[in-house]
Amino acid sequence: MKPTTVTHLHQWKQEQRKFASLTAYDASFAKLFEEQGVKVLLVGDSLGMTLQGHDSTLPVTVADVAYHTRAVRRGAPACLLLADLPFMSYATPQLACANAAELMQAGANMVKLEGGSWLCETVKMLTQRAVPVCGHLGLTPQSVNVFGGYKVQGRDELAAKQLLEDAQNLELAGIQLLVLECVPTELARKVTEALTIPVIGIGAGNATDGQILVMHDAFGITGGHTPKFAKNFLAQSGDIRSAVQQYIQDVEQGIYPAEEHSFN
Ligand code: KIV
Repeated sequence: MKPTTVTHLHQWKQEQRKFASLTAYDASFAKLFEEQGVKVLLVGDSLGMTLQGHDSTLPVTVADVAYHTRAVRRGAPACLLLADLPFMSYATPQLACANAAELMQAGANMVKLEGGSWLCETVKMLTQRAVPVCGHLGLTPQSVNVFGGYKVQGRDELAAKQLLEDAQNLELAGIQLLVLECVPTELARKVTEALTIPVIGIGAGNATDGQILVMHDAFGITGGHTPKFAKNFLAQSGDIRSAVQQYIQDVEQGIYPAEEHSFN
């Protein structure tokens, strides 16, 4: 299978071809996802919640993400693989470089970090040193204690303006992809149209270039609170392979996310 690269994603944006991505944390699911046609996987620090049972992503370490990245890479050699830099692992540009090196050497093609314009220097430093970077704006779960909970972001005019400005600054600094989480659909549309890089949404409506879901949310096995944007693709067929195919198809055809999965 031909490896997916960030160039493919940029091409798909130009062609207005939507793409579906998932989180993955182990070799078996990664293999299944790749076989069913998922082209982009993320070893998210959501593993702190989905795998480790914590109530936030804060306890996750670089070693944790590197361990799961090695496993996912073995299972899905052709996927474009993103790995999260966890909480405080990119507090300075130097720290970001050292920790990104560990994730790239574990098999990631790109690292993802959460935050706005304050990260521009870090993004420049990483990209100049051959580490592709994905930004993450909106509801950035590592900032849950600053937000006072997992809340939709960018709802008022000032916050929306700031988010758009952050996205543009990060693109100028060198990010090659952007994840937008839990923002109103119209703001996500504005950001997607303003950027030349692909934007991947989660709880950001159906106007973004791609979608991502935490795999547990896509299979309805989320413990506790189920987010509004989640959909259980396993419910209809009861078969994991069919569920993944359904998810890909629904994203590509713009059926998922529907209005009921989105925020205003
Ligand atoms: O950690 C994660 O799984 C993520 C996704 C929610 C995008 O960052």
